[in-house]
Amino acid sequence: MAVPNHVGIIMDGNGRWAIGRDLARKEGHKKGANTCMDIIHTAIDQQVKVLSLYAFSTENWTRPADEVSSIISLLDLYLQTEILAFLKRGVKFVLLGDRSKLSAKTRFWLNNAEKLSVKNKGMKLQLAVNYGGKDDIIRGIKSLAAQQYDFSQINEQDLGGMLDGGDSPPVDLMIRTSGEKRLSNFMIWQCAYAEFYFTDTLWPDFTQAAFIEAINTFGLRDRRFGDSGGVS
Ligand code: IPE
Ligand code: IPE
Ligand code: MG
Repeated sequence: MAVPNHVGIIMDGNGRWAIGRDLARKEGHKKGANTCMDIIHTAIDQQVKVLSLYAFSTENWTRPADEVSSIISLLDLYLQTEILAFLKRGVKFVLLGDRSKLSAKTRFWLNNAEKLSVKNKGMKLQLAVNYGGKDDIIRGIKSLAAQQYDFSQINEQDLGGMLDGGDSPPVDLMIRTSGEKRLSNFMIWQCAYAEFYFTDTLWPDFTQAAFIEAINTFGLRDRRFGDSGGVS
């Protein structure tokens, strides 16, 4: 069965998972971070080539400061500890998003993971932090402008190549947990022909088996890319 080359995940539902258990939202983020580790290992096992995880959006800064700091602290911690097991498995770590608005500490650990894995040839793990699809496109346009690019010749390849993870293939399968059915500004360009998989399961409860099931349903999809699919 066809395995998607590039899988994206909108890891949603941490807050509702915690509230449903009378816990603080940050407990949901902690449990969600554990789920994240399991799913990355499964993606490697399933021979996924690129895994893009939405961890923190450009809009998530509007949340209460203590929730934002609990998410960023978890990120700092995992970048110093858990990430090493993936790097050992050949994972190449790439950040999606505008790092300039992150703290010096977070930038240090992100740069460190990227540097340590730059030569790795295994699965590419694209972690989206302070990421917005619209912001990605605007930063891409600005990068072209900085190179005195001739905008009268603009084309998909040149702009697509300037986006975050621009050398990765487009998203084949986008998974969103928690029952919401929207992209919430994640990889809007890269998802032009993505297949979508929605599940009501909240991210902290999403299992390795559920991930494999999502990948298996992808193999059954009829992707036509605008073609008539051989039906005359
Ligand atoms: C996803 O879970 C994690 C982030 C957006 C950082 P949420 O925190 O959005 O959980 P819900 O949607 O409120 O349940
Ligand atoms: C999307 O989830 C962002 C991440 C999962 C990091 P949100 O919970 O922020 O999205 P909305 O607000 O429901 O659209
Ligand atoms: Mg949410």
